[in-house]
Amino acid sequence: MRKKITVIGGGNVGEHVAVGCAQRELGDVVLLDILEGIPQGKGLDLFESSPVEGWDSNVIGTNSYDDVAGSDVVVITAGLARKPGMSRDDLQAKNASIVKMCTEAAIKASPNAMLVLVSNPLDVMCYVAKQVSGFPAERVVGMAGVLDTARYRSFLAMELGVSVESIQALVLGGHGDSMVPLPRLTTIGGIPLPELLSQDRIDAIVERTAKGGGEIVSLLKSGSAYHAPGASVVEMVESILRDKKKILPCAAWLTGQYGVDGCFVGVPVKLGSKGVEQIYEIKLEAGELDALQTSAGLVKEQQAKLDV
Ligand SMILES: NC(=O)c1ccc[n+]([C@@H]2O[C@H](COP(=O)([O-])OP(=O)(O)OC[C@H]3O[C@@H](n4cnc5c(N)ncnc54)[C@H](O)[C@@H]3O)[C@@H](O)[C@H]2O)c1
Repeated sequence: MRKKITVIGGGNVGEHVAVGCAQRELGDVVLLDILEGIPQGKGLDLFESSPVEGWDSNVIGTNSYDDVAGSDVVVITAGLARKPGMSRDDLQAKNASIVKMCTEAAIKASPNAMLVLVSNPLDVMCYVAKQVSGFPAERVVGMAGVLDTARYRSFLAMELGVSVESIQALVLGGHGDSMVPLPRLTTIGGIPLPELLSQDRIDAIVERTAKGGGEIVSLLKSGSAYHAPGASVVEMVESILRDKKKILPCAAWLTGQYGVDGCFVGVPVKLGSKGVEQIYEIKLEAGELDALQTSAGLVKEQQAKLDV
């Protein structure tokens, strides 16, 4: 039987998630938005590309949660996108109420789904979805680390003039300026990064990675990134639905790992059909652990401001 993926929020990111899931034939896709006509138009247009491209996934757009019933994965991208000059914090109150509403409606229609959060501020929105759904922690996961790592790998590939495929890396921590790239564990075709690049250049790339979202926002002027975010979500959905058990940096609920308890933050996890099947607690150096705990502390501060 075909899998079913619902994407709530048919804006830039949601649309690109729908495209990637459909093209990879991960399952049938439902694109839901509050705007009338827009998801229906995007869904139909996307489906009409399938005969040309040669893929078999049904795609519909809708405003009704009746169409969400029986989804295996629900991706939540609904909310406001960050605009120039707007901090992630400004978004929190507005997006929390949107994510709450979407989660309540989605789990009513699909009580067994896996929830993949995208809306910002990401780590806090994961908390909202977990609290509202009452789902076990392994069935709520957030996309940020895959994107942050993709940006880091892209910058390194540009700097070194090598294939992005040769770069293995890991970015941990909360989504935002407090993320924690790990140059020590970055390898280029198996060669440790510090052997190929000076500390100054590594620092500059780490800094650019941490500000990667803002860089795109200031170039686009209105709206924020969607190609790399969409692709990152699709990689996670694929790992879940095909039970690939990829190890990916994702926002997961921590219960003492890394000395962090009671919040979502980016850590390496195994993503498979049961969701977050394992959280890897790797040995970090003191500075790295401090940075991760500081990042988690900021997430918890924001979380405490919510009433869910
Ligand atoms: N986690 C990440 O790494 C990451 C990356 C990129 C974007 N984001 C976030 O993802 C979200 C979406 O970004 P975007 O660029 O697609 O924004 P967008 O404005 O293009 O799309 C958002 C969509 O959500 C819809 N929406 C609003 N309220 C809704 C509701 N109650 N129910 C259903 N749909 C609703 C809007 O109509 C709109 O179509 C933003 O919060 C953005 O900050 C996160």
